[in-house]
Amino acid sequence: MTDAVKLAMFGGSRVVGKQDVTKELVGWPVVTDREHEALRGVLDRGLFTSNDAGRGEVSALQEEWARYVGTAHCAAVANGTAALELALAALDIEPGSEVLVPALTFIGSAVPVLQRRLVPVFVDIDPVTYTMDPIAAEKAVTGRTRAIIAVHLHGLPCDMAALRALAERHGLHLVEDAAQSQGAVHRGRRTGSIGDINAVSLNVVKNLPTCGEGGLVTTDDEKLHERVVLHRQFGEDLRPGKDRDYISRLPAGNEKLSAVQAAFTRCQLTRLDADSAARDRVVRRFLGRLGRLPGVTVPTCPEDRTHAWHILRLRFDPVAAGYPELPPGAFRATVQRALRAEGVPVQPYQVVPLPGQPAFRDLGVPITAYEVSLAVIDDSVTLQRWHLNPRCEPVLDLVVRAFEKVWDRLDQLAPAAAAMDHRPPWHRVMSGAVR
Ligand SMILES: Cc1ncc(COP(=O)(O)O)c(C=O)c1O
Repeated sequence: MTDAVKLAMFGGSRVVGKQDVTKELVGWPVVTDREHEALRGVLDRGLFTSNDAGRGEVSALQEEWARYVGTAHCAAVANGTAALELALAALDIEPGSEVLVPALTFIGSAVPVLQRRLVPVFVDIDPVTYTMDPIAAEKAVTGRTRAIIAVHLHGLPCDMAALRALAERHGLHLVEDAAQSQGAVHRGRRTGSIGDINAVSLNVVKNLPTCGEGGLVTTDDEKLHERVVLHRQFGEDLRPGKDRDYISRLPAGNEKLSAVQAAFTRCQLTRLDADSAARDRVVRRFLGRLGRLPGVTVPTCPEDRTHAWHILRLRFDPVAAGYPELPPGAFRATVQRALRAEGVPVQPYQVVPLPGQPAFRDLGVPITAYEVSLAVIDDSVTLQRWHLNPRCEPVLDLVVRAFEKVWDRLDQLAPAAAAMDHRPPWHRVMSGAVR
């Protein structure tokens, strides 16, 4: 057997070489002359702070994002976690109240709940969309529930119609965590404009990035917006036209965005729609090809929304692949090893449902209640970053070839998967090995 046909895991040559993966094709974010000029402009003008009396980059970004998503107000903040925390602060929910959060999401979706002295109640996900299951959410509502955090995980908008109906039935606030879904649309409305108040992250890896950290909070409600602004800087009244009085009207920290960050994101925003459209075309073609392999379940997008394709999650099913005797987790782990050896950086994204995170252990919620999240974590991997650059298609073509090579040789992997002493991804955390 030649090196080209032997699996790289067994000493063959890899399909995706380091020389194939160039910054031009997969670098993210894409930095053009426009970004360089904008950042130089900030340095030249010397207007660095966010309190720019409507004349600087931060004010301009706030206006442009509000116009883009179609909300009356936008406040730029330090990062996406701060954006959610400020959104919850603005809602002024009584401490000890419960907030529904999906069990499978990034930790930053749930930590703000604790920061506001509220109680996260975790809800299992839908096995197809990987977002909060509205039926499970309804079952989790109690007399103490006050809000739902709808996380558009991986870039796919949640079933916002069902979550809005649920919120209305029980008198709950609906908060969007649109950190991963910039540009995505649900029933004609952009994510980040659908909840009562909405949070976005501008972290450098996001579809709409800054050159570092940033976040945005949007709402149509003037009072909520004013409270976000109050909480954003020490509880001070900093409305335009007033002199700073240095009086903290409530206990709050400093969670502002800088002009450099805003200037970078403004450049990226001018390309967001074009980049999203290019990504949509490339990713759909890529997933169409991967989805033809037996046992590979690729993400899909319901007809009433668009997908921002921020993270691509792929589930592997040994039964459909022709190996019914293999446990799904062992099959996934072996395929993951083989793909990584071929140069494809598949990786886990979230290794434990959030109630299993040490940060939430005090809540005493067993992770066994989150069957769908556990199954998805165990039998799936994710692809991140490479597909964000609109020029990535030649690299994704190689990724398809690597998958095809591995799938043609699953018989060589099966014995390794069968012999494996498989521990699910959450084992390390749940066994107490992580302190
Ligand atoms: C779903 C989700 N929520 C919240 C956050 C927090 O955003 P940030 O990292 O900007 O604080 C992120 C960012 O990674 C995220 O992906």
